[in-house]
Amino acid sequence: MSEPIRFYYRGAVREVRDAQPTQTILQHLREDLHCTGTKEGCAEGDCGACTVVIGSLEGGQLELKAVNSCIQFTPTLDGKALFTVEDLQQQDGSLHPVQQALVECHGSQCGFCTPGFAMSLWGMYLKQESHGLSGRAPSRCQIDDALSGNLCRCTGYRPIIDAARRMAELPAAAFDRAALAERLGALQRAHGFTYEAQGGRFHVPRTLDELVALRSEHPAALLLAGSTDVGLWVTKHMRELKEIIYLGQVEALKTVSENAGMLEIGAGVTLNEAYAAICRHYPAELTEMWQRFASLPIRNAGTLGGNVANGSPIGDSMPWLIALGTQIVLRGAAGERVLALENFYLGYQQKDLQPGEFVQALRIPLRRDELRFRTYKLAKRFDQDISAVCAAFAITLDGDTVTDARIAFGGMAATPKRAASAEAALTGQAWNEATMRAAFDALARDYAPLSDMRASSSYRMQAAQNLLRRFWLETRVDNPLPAAALNAFAAG
Ligand SMILES: Cc1cc2nc3c(=O)[nH]c(=O)nc-3n(C[C@H](O)[C@H](O)[C@H](O)COP(=O)(O)OP(=O)(O)OC[C@H]3O[C@@H](n4cnc5c(N)ncnc54)[C@H](O)[C@@H]3O)c2cc1C
Ligand code: FES
Ligand code: FES
Repeated sequence: MSEPIRFYYRGAVREVRDAQPTQTILQHLREDLHCTGTKEGCAEGDCGACTVVIGSLEGGQLELKAVNSCIQFTPTLDGKALFTVEDLQQQDGSLHPVQQALVECHGSQCGFCTPGFAMSLWGMYLKQESHGLSGRAPSRCQIDDALSGNLCRCTGYRPIIDAARRMAELPAAAFDRAALAERLGALQRAHGFTYEAQGGRFHVPRTLDELVALRSEHPAALLLAGSTDVGLWVTKHMRELKEIIYLGQVEALKTVSENAGMLEIGAGVTLNEAYAAICRHYPAELTEMWQRFASLPIRNAGTLGGNVANGSPIGDSMPWLIALGTQIVLRGAAGERVLALENFYLGYQQKDLQPGEFVQALRIPLRRDELRFRTYKLAKRFDQDISAVCAAFAITLDGDTVTDARIAFGGMAATPKRAASAEAALTGQAWNEATMRAAFDALARDYAPLSDMRASSSYRMQAAQNLLRRFWLETRVDNPLPAAALNAFAAG
């Protein structure tokens, strides 16, 4: 029998020995621990009814983040702390300020979504506290971001937003971070381990070497990072995953560094941290994409490496990564292999990943003065929606002449794909309306998009061409529109 999974919950270390490796945290809470405060709405990361807060030590530092428990597997909790709505009540029996504010502002009607809202609000409350901002109301922008993954069908959002402001005015509730960090420290393992139960195996390597060895030994095993794609394969597609290698404890995959004009982001860096790092270099161009990528709980769990490795044709990071000239670093037993990201995609759901390899990092070129760069996401909703079309444009100018052009789209082909004809129409030409129009027409030769439930083929093509026109309007040499003026989130 394997060692049990060990995690901290409600004042004690819990051990799990016989849960299926793909049992979700939500199932474990409700069915095994009988803690039914956390609810299931959609079981696919969309509604937020299942939101919990996970505490973990990252590089020795305590981090507390809201995530969707419906798509996270129970073994991912090993060495971590789990907090649910049952934890909010204070020791004297009174409500936590988050709950009290929801009561005072009438932020709940049927109550089904309320535990999830309470946990997202608690995540924001803790963040304010850790930034020394206890007692200060978060901005509307921060509130919208914290609640971007929570849906309510009956109360409406205004009273909940009022509660998010009100909670800061109530007497503060203490949270002992040092004690939690110490408890988690005692739960950490020196080496990786494999949890086995009910015919399934869940490997948890801690170092790159352990990961390389495991990957070579089990080339058919599924790699699991933030589980925001894979979780749904189990909860929605009912797939049975018998052998999983979890990347979430490999510290070496979670690093961000700068070297030789490149920002290197480890494949295990969460989407939220990866976008924070890249937005320090491209704030006006990428901040809106950061905010519009899924929701905060999804970005807290999902990784940039997972987005790229999954390689969905409608994924949001690949177009701008490709337009910027990003390299993907692959790692296997034979060492590293580096590719231009666009060459990683061979066909629909086909990637240039050899058996035994995994994505180790992404190398993203840093800003150059002569670069004009934008990315745009078109979806039916602002928050938490998948793109119908996602576009990225990057041109290098020498005076008013385009010396290099890189254009990539999502939603226009079976893979994230560059627009070779449009790029050729721009290169060597003056950056003026006539050149833009030539590239506009050329886009029709680059893509033959599909019609599906998100958009028709003709909508996609027209939208793609109009996004090119928008790019020109924003970056024209004679009278560019400042990107910040177009990006309220960046400004706020
Ligand atoms: C509610 C919701 C909203 C979403 N919104 C968006 C959105 O707005 N835009 C968008 O682009 N996506 C969105 N997604 C999809 C998803 O969040 C992203 O694709 C995410 O980046 C996946 O990362 P992950 O770490 O969760 O990957 P996982 O689910 O763990 O893995 C995804 C795939 O990548 C493979 N993989 C992961 N890491 C590696 C690695 N290092 N090497 C090799 N293979 C690896 C896995 O084997 C698997 O095949 C959304 C998902 C949900 C549930
Ligand atoms: S149940 Fe809807 S996000 Fe988890
Ligand atoms: S209070 Fe009923 S769904 Fe939000």
